[in-house]
Amino acid sequence: MITSAAAAAHPNIAFIKYWGNQDEFLRIPANGSISMNLEGLETRTTVEFDTKLEEDELVINGEPTSSEALDRVSLTLDHIRRLADLETAARVISQNTFPTGTGIASSASAFAALALAAATALGLCLSERELSQLARLGSGSACRSIPGGFVEWKAGKDHNSSYAETLAVPEYWDLVDFIVLISSEHKHVSSSQGHSLAGSSPLQEARVKDADRRLEICRQAILERDFSSFAEIVEQDCILMHSVMMSSTPPLYYWQPKTLEIIEAVREWRKEGLQVCFTIDAGPNVHVLCPGSEAEAVKRRLTAVANIRSLLKCTPGGPAWLLEPEISGV
Ligand code: DP6
Repeated sequence: MITSAAAAAHPNIAFIKYWGNQDEFLRIPANGSISMNLEGLETRTTVEFDTKLEEDELVINGEPTSSEALDRVSLTLDHIRRLADLETAARVISQNTFPTGTGIASSASAFAALALAAATALGLCLSERELSQLARLGSGSACRSIPGGFVEWKAGKDHNSSYAETLAVPEYWDLVDFIVLISSEHKHVSSSQGHSLAGSSPLQEARVKDADRRLEICRQAILERDFSSFAEIVEQDCILMHSVMMSSTPPLYYWQPKTLEIIEAVREWRKEGLQVCFTIDAGPNVHVLCPGSEAEAVKRRLTAVANIRSLLKCTPGGPAWLLEPEISGV
């Protein structure tokens, strides 16, 4: 017997970052975070629970995957199987609509789509909050790809209190994220490994202690569509996270010379009066953020910077959603 469902989700970009865990296994973060879902990029996933299968199978972008990736998927499926009181193995077929090798992390959209598809296939009627908790178990940032628009992940203290919810719907603020692709190289150190190093930096404690202040400023800036205040806090939060990364043992340097060149250009453009700011995740690519009204000017300037591999434009995206299995395209 086969029961299946298909779902899709957008990746997200964090404005206030998640870095370090209180509980590594349950992915209870050291601090809350705020992000925006990225319309224009998505992961589509079909999950088929098949009584004929002996163990879980995983295919990503048409290719069989590493045992490490499969183990992580199986762990998330185990939580969902437990809720449904079932032990059936599943075939998971996942496809990213964004090109592979672009350096864009897909674990957030992948685990959000997986949680929604698997829970639906097993007939579980879960709330958005419960789905975000399940997605979090696969990849922390995935919990923020379950609700739509501008999203806050409440750090919490345990599984039930750590979940994400919408702060504002996608239409609320016409914000644009230009992803400047500097390198497609696979990360040398994954986010999961990085989180476990965070505590080795003497700066992490101060970063976490100050997180509520940054969260409040960012929340207000989004709700008031106040770009100046947003720009200052987003850049400060990003630099705090990278300072922790660079001062961990062993240190993590994700930036490349081009990363710093874009940082300097963006800060210069802002001084000149353009509404623009940057943020960077665990890699060298820079996310350049601006209100829609500045998008053309920002794009013109970015394309004039030499040796950028390419530029992707994203706008605020909606929540994870179900697909008709036959039109899932996977
Ligand atoms: C730098 O969610 O990818 O992008 O929970 O181990 O899967 P795991 O980590 P992940 O970490 C994201 C780190 C970040 C910041 C952020 O998105 O908040």
